Amino acid sequence: MKNQLSRRGFIRAATAASAALSWLGARRSAFAADADKPALLGGKPAHSGGWPTWPEWREAWESGVLKVLRSGKWCRAGAGEEVPNFEKGWAQLLGAKRCLATASGTTALITSLYVMGVDAGDEVITSPYTFSATYNAILTHKALPVFADTDPATLTMDPASIESRITERTRAILPVHIYGMPCDMDAINAIAKKRNLAVIEDACQAWLGEYKGRKCGVLGDLGCFSFQNSKHIPAGEGGAVTGMSDELVDRCYSFHNCGRSTPTFKGTGCFTRGGNFRMQHFQASILMSQFDKLVKETEVRRANADYLGANLKEIAGITPVRLPENSRAVWHLYPMRYDAAQFNGLPRGKFMAALSAEGIPCSGGYSEQYNDGMFDETIASRGYKRLWSDERLKAYRESFKELKGNKQVCETTVAISQNILLADRSCMDHILAAIRKIQAHSAELAKA
Ligand SMILES: Cc1ncc(COP(=O)(O)O)c(C=O)c1O
Repeated sequence: MKNQLSRRGFIRAATAASAALSWLGARRSAFAADADKPALLGGKPAHSGGWPTWPEWREAWESGVLKVLRSGKWCRAGAGEEVPNFEKGWAQLLGAKRCLATASGTTALITSLYVMGVDAGDEVITSPYTFSATYNAILTHKALPVFADTDPATLTMDPASIESRITERTRAILPVHIYGMPCDMDAINAIAKKRNLAVIEDACQAWLGEYKGRKCGVLGDLGCFSFQNSKHIPAGEGGAVTGMSDELVDRCYSFHNCGRSTPTFKGTGCFTRGGNFRMQHFQASILMSQFDKLVKETEVRRANADYLGANLKEIAGITPVRLPENSRAVWHLYPMRYDAAQFNGLPRGKFMAALSAEGIPCSGGYSEQYNDGMFDETIASRGYKRLWSDERLKAYRESFKELKGNKQVCETTVAISQNILLADRSCMDHILAAIRKIQAHSAELAKA
């Protein structure tokens, strides 16, 4: 029959097909080997195609910015409604009684420290594991940042290390909800209450972070936020102070507005100290446009972080961070602790290089910044020498060596950034596959 193959034809076709199949099989196992081989050793990366970029903008936000531009009312002093509207909206999102918008997170911290009475010669207990702006805000007041140790399990201030650092000069505690992970605020507030200290939260990375049903930024006396370009709700620059006390936030208003009075905090002219730390209406407009986006994206980051955490804890040598009971982080970075011993001694730097080669950008988080020179310069300065004895400054510098938990955290953390958590679930699987692959080939990678 025409359509039937002759025996010889059949054999020829079958032989060709089986040759093709075995070629394909060989290619497939070559692909599998490629996929299995770490990208750093020439294999195929676990993730390709990039990640969501940051910051983002929407066409719908343009009209608000244009409205401010055309109004000529760009500065909040005296006119315009965007900044006050933003303040109302941000306070509402957090469940805060009040909010004051500022030029940056740094100026929010400087303002709050001033209003809580921190002055030259005072000491403030804070976390060493933070962006340097936290320390700098304290130093701006010619006060001394005294570091509590970091709890390696949580990456935040270890409350057990606070009390031994309190002196008669201590005025405030400044916990930092680093990477958007809430500190153990009940323990911190209890110490502050017992020792009559103010509590100022550095919530600059903790927009909508939650601790026991309340938002970060309303858990102490005052809370501080940053809206700088890299943040989850960015406006290029910007910040806010939040709180539950009209009086405190009115005082903040005066300080941030050159020391002028407010309706409830009255005086004549510039009756108190202050500076120009005001937010512009342009920034407020951009920020208000992002409220809904922030709420939605926070849930996406959380869901992906939960998924990563549940799977990462099954990989020997990788420990996800522990959060305080009944709290929810917002993950400005997603950190994990890396134990090289479980990866055949593969140093953290090489692990990060291998992960990056797999298409997963990562970093080591903060380093022991207090050894960088900033504090040597500080304690050698005329002002600090006038305010503290040589012995105290020497002991202060030496005390950095006691920050054992922090050192461990600085040396073993590996972190991925927030925009990666906005990718879809399959991309989270790529992260897990990449780490498992590096784990499986860690001996080879360690030798390479
Ligand atoms: C923990 C922390 N504190 C303070 C700041 C200071 O904020 P800003 O850069 O807006 O001054 C930042 C900003 O990166 C931060 O991450």
